[in-house]
Amino acid sequence: MKRVTPREAFDRFKPESCVFVISVEPNGRPSGMIAGWNMKCSYEPPLFAVALSRSGYTHRLIRQSKEFVVAVPNKGLQSAVECFGATHGNEVDKFKETALATLPAKHIRSPLIRDATLNFECTLEREVEAGDHWLFIGRILAAYWNEGKKVLLNMKKVDGKRVFEEF
Ligand SMILES: Cc1cc2nc3c(=O)[nH]c(=O)nc-3n(C[C@H](O)[C@H](O)[C@H](O)COP(=O)(O)O)c2cc1C
Repeated sequence: MKRVTPREAFDRFKPESCVFVISVEPNGRPSGMIAGWNMKCSYEPPLFAVALSRSGYTHRLIRQSKEFVVAVPNKGLQSAVECFGATHGNEVDKFKETALATLPAKHIRSPLIRDATLNFECTLEREVEAGDHWLFIGRILAAYWNEGKKVLLNMKKVDGKRVFEEF
């Protein structure tokens, strides 16, 4: 077995699911990003965790609003995944740019993504400093399923470009 750096090992730990993490600015404008570092972490209470880089914008919104939506994409949302995962919400209005259809959430101000396979409405339960990322643990207040839709996975990179497939 070959010894590699932790980063090289992380890069080879694929396929990886990826989710939209959506929150809101104080004026109600939604923004968000993609997080491959995501996990369910408790049934009771229902909790979901995402690791967000210190260099991004979305973590600032979550810290302020104390809420976020986690939305699980499918192949139909791949171009939005590419935009949300490569641009910054303080520079680009990603919802406008992608014309991504939303639905109002029941308990929070962050919108759901209408055509996502799953949506989770979360309030911020805890924030943990984790090296160069912040771990946000959300308490799920409501979950939604679009029956029949599949889940998009980040398979690998080819020539620096991510390859996605759905299952
Ligand atoms: C498939 C994929 C997975 C990603 N996973 C993460 C992640 O887990 N954590 C993170 O901080 N950024 C991750 N990113 C990068 C962010 O989505 C990206 O930096 C985004 O532009 C941040 O947006 P923001 O500055 O508006 O918050 C991922 C991007 C892609 C395309």
